[in-house]
Amino acid sequence: MASFIAFVTIISLASSVANAQSNVTRGSSLKPTGDNTSWLSPSGLYAFGFYPQSQGYAVGIYIAGIPERTVVWTATRDKLPFTRNATLSFTSDGRLAVEQTQGQEINLIDTSGAYLASMQDSGNFVLYDTNGTRVLWQSFDNPTETLLVGQRLLPDKKLFSSVSETDQSIGVFQLIMQTDGNLVLYPDMVFLGSAYWATGTNGDGPNVTLNLDSNGFLYLLQNSTFFIRNLTQEGYPEKDALYLMKLDVDGILRLYYHDLSNMSRNRAVKWASTSNKCEGKGLCGPNGYCVVDNDATRCRCIPGFEAIDVGRQSLGCRRTYTVESCKIPDAETAIRMAELNNVALNEATYAIPKAPTQDECSSACLNDCNCEAALFTGQECRLQRLPLRYIQVTDSQPNVALIKVYTSTVNNGSNPTNQSIHIKKVREKKIMVIGVSIISFAVLVLIISGVIMYKTRVWAYRKISENLNVQLFQDMGPRAFSYEALEKITDGFKEEVGRGSFGIVYKDILYGSNNSKPKPCWMERMRMAIDIAHGILYLHEECENSIIHCDIKPQNILMDEYGHAKISDFGLAKLLEHDQTKTSTLIRGTRGYVAPEWHKMLPITVKVDVYSFGIVLFNILCCRRNVDNSLPDGEAIIEEWVYECYEAGELLKLIDYDEDVEIKRLEQMVKIGLWCIQEEPSLRPSMKRVVLMLEGTVKIPVPPNPASFLSVV
Ligand SMILES: *[C@@H]1O[C@H](CO)[C@@H](O)[C@H](O)[C@H]1NC(C)=O
Ligand SMILES: *[C@@H]1O[C@H](CO)[C@@H](O)[C@H](O)[C@H]1NC(C)=O
Ligand SMILES: *[C@@H]1O[C@H](CO)[C@@H](O)[C@H](O)[C@H]1NC(C)=O
Ligand SMILES: *[C@@H]1O[C@H](CO)[C@@H](O)[C@H](O)[C@H]1NC(C)=O
Ligand SMILES: *[C@@H]1O[C@H](CO)[C@@H](O)[C@H](O)[C@H]1NC(C)=O
Ligand SMILES: *[C@@H]1O[C@H](CO)[C@@H](O)[C@H](O)[C@H]1NC(C)=O
Ligand SMILES: *[C@@H]1O[C@H](CO)[C@@H](O)[C@H](O)[C@H]1NC(C)=O
Ligand SMILES: *[C@@H]1O[C@H](CO)[C@@H](O)[C@H](O)[C@H]1NC(C)=O
Ligand SMILES: *[C@@H]1O[C@H](CO)[C@@H](O)[C@H](O)[C@H]1NC(C)=O
Ligand SMILES: *[C@@H]1O[C@H](CO)[C@@H](O)[C@H](O)[C@H]1NC(C)=O
Repeated sequence: MASFIAFVTIISLASSVANAQSNVTRGSSLKPTGDNTSWLSPSGLYAFGFYPQSQGYAVGIYIAGIPERTVVWTATRDKLPFTRNATLSFTSDGRLAVEQTQGQEINLIDTSGAYLASMQDSGNFVLYDTNGTRVLWQSFDNPTETLLVGQRLLPDKKLFSSVSETDQSIGVFQLIMQTDGNLVLYPDMVFLGSAYWATGTNGDGPNVTLNLDSNGFLYLLQNSTFFIRNLTQEGYPEKDALYLMKLDVDGILRLYYHDLSNMSRNRAVKWASTSNKCEGKGLCGPNGYCVVDNDATRCRCIPGFEAIDVGRQSLGCRRTYTVESCKIPDAETAIRMAELNNVALNEATYAIPKAPTQDECSSACLNDCNCEAALFTGQECRLQRLPLRYIQVTDSQPNVALIKVYTSTVNNGSNPTNQSIHIKKVREKKIMVIGVSIISFAVLVLIISGVIMYKTRVWAYRKISENLNVQLFQDMGPRAFSYEALEKITDGFKEEVGRGSFGIVYKDILYGSNNSKPKPCWMERMRMAIDIAHGILYLHEECENSIIHCDIKPQNILMDEYGHAKISDFGLAKLLEHDQTKTSTLIRGTRGYVAPEWHKMLPITVKVDVYSFGIVLFNILCCRRNVDNSLPDGEAIIEEWVYECYEAGELLKLIDYDEDVEIKRLEQMVKIGLWCIQEEPSLRPSMKRVVLMLEGTVKIPVPPNPASFLSVV
């Protein structure tokens, strides 16, 4: 009991404990089991070391002084757990490294030359330099999901939620202390309008920090001096209290209270960013939504969808039944619009047709192959594509979501939940080759930025409007231009950009563009990939005649000012007629992007574009060219390098060290790309399937080794 009181006394002196520390010297080591699993702080409250996680061990800081293990910092959030054989050492050259198999060390922290390490009673783990005065690294500056007393969330720093209470891998929510002074909660995708909670202190400048004191007082300070916002007024002063703030698995910020004088008392929530447990945007994943049921949250799927993994609701929902093309509904498939009431959708609407009634809105969606759902607000009908990421269903919402649902008329009577994804094969379209001379689709797909093949005549296309009305750009449908219009917008074909095999490309700026941006972030890259896939899908399946682009590569992808990717340069495209699926022709395309069947003189199908898309997807993921001889041998050819990393389970090698990437999403993308570059064309997915996989609505099987192909190039 005496030691217990001493322990409590140390804690209650929260402000003065910062100096109390137990020192760890070079050469010290820890093992996951046995006597030395962690380094304790002087009072024994906090520990740095191994703790069990998912059939292995992770390394981090946890509260050792309370029975229920509470992890407050994790060193290896997205790494595989360590085995019992692992050894964590403070090495003789001052690194913190884990050795698991003989001779293979993993650095836990990107710092070397530390002289002294110290687990402090504040919960801060610090590495000092030679004379023990200068801090080289501290866990307080590198938070994971928790903020401790005395710790500050500095400008531009983030907290990421965990996947679950027992698995501290990076989950889907993030708290950002923005440099505009605003403290904001975001879902997986950070873009304007995706936030679901904020302090609204934007404008208070770049020096705002989030602080927590020993009374549970949570506040924003400017210049370390001025109170800007008190989140918990005065806090909750109590004896023997330990407070911590955590971004929980459900995306809600909570202030937890632990009573250190009575270990049998459970932790209590003193404050939360919201009382609505479903507020975390995207909690139930794509195509799912959250409802509160008996004070607990529950995930549901929109009509016609089922959970991808019942045990992991954040993965979202996929269609119970889907078709490869919605163009020709036949006797086997019924399509209808299902209703979901009281819905808010925060999606990118791609079109707002005139449809003043719900019935008209339903038919607008039914008649549009791009439309998967529509939001009817009473005045407007907003057409949407999948996935629907941030669906919120609350009584206060007057809107109705209309969701396109496919049902099989053949398998009726079987248990629908047992009916796994059923992809209906459409009749294979027969294709005929039209003479090369009339191929001049300069500008057919989506919005163009100005690509003209003017020597040849413009082939027939659907006209939408001849007016260059900016509003039109909200609509992602095909856009056609008359020769006169093109002449006008390119200023009489004044500025030549380049010459291709079938024409000359002229520069045209439709409306002030400036996309000379630095490297796009992960989320922008994801969107790019989906845009390009949609563009190719349009060419393959949604045009009146199938078009094989034949030259999908980064140089032929243009970005508009809203960051939407467009496919351009149809100089090599093949137009396919209704009664042929294949064509043979001389090799066309660009080295590094052409499918192996070109080299083998085999017939060409739309799958050559799928192949090129796979390579482009790797370009986008890794932000590098497909062949880069300045890199080491194994890395020079992108598809070989990607497969090598995939096989070795080292996908993080593919991206920059400091990128915020959801590792699971990265893995999905890589798997899709590997499917696309299979040597055997029939193994490659259709573009429709690729889009479904990118959108996360169908499961992605483990891809076979495309290496047999690799030997060909
Ligand atoms: C730990 O090291 C620091 C700096 O060298 C020293 O001031 C402190 O007394 C040491 N603490 C213990 C418990 O040895
Ligand atoms: C644990 O660490 C202490 C101090 O470094 C050392 O004396 C002891 O031998 C270690 N125990 C084991 C089982 O390694
Ligand atoms: C640990 O090491 C022992 C001896 O080297 C080995 O037999 C065992 O398979 C290893 N266990 C794991 C989980 O790697
Ligand atoms: C610490 O070491 C540096 C050089 O390594 C020296 O410049 C500095 O004066 C030392 N500080 C103290 C307090 O000894
Ligand atoms: C922010 O803080 C830093 C360091 O305290 C200071 O140098 C800088 O001038 C401050 N900037 C503003 C705009 O307050
Ligand atoms: C914060 O500090 C900087 C310089 O350190 C100063 O320019 C700025 O005015 C300060 N902000 C406020 C609100 O006092
Ligand atoms: C916030 O709390 C501080 C410290 O208690 C106090 O000085 C300040 O007036 C409070 N600000 C507001 C806006 O309540
Ligand atoms: C400790 O807390 C438990 C549960 O709240 C309570 O039953 C018990 O009486 C408390 N013990 C003391 C000594 O306060
Ligand atoms: C499937 O069968 C149920 C009754 O078993 C019927 O209500 C429903 O309309 C049928 N669906 C279709 C698409 O035929
Ligand atoms: C689901 O389908 C499989 C194969 O079609 C069948 O063996 C199984 O009994 C079905 N399960 C249920 C619950 O209907």
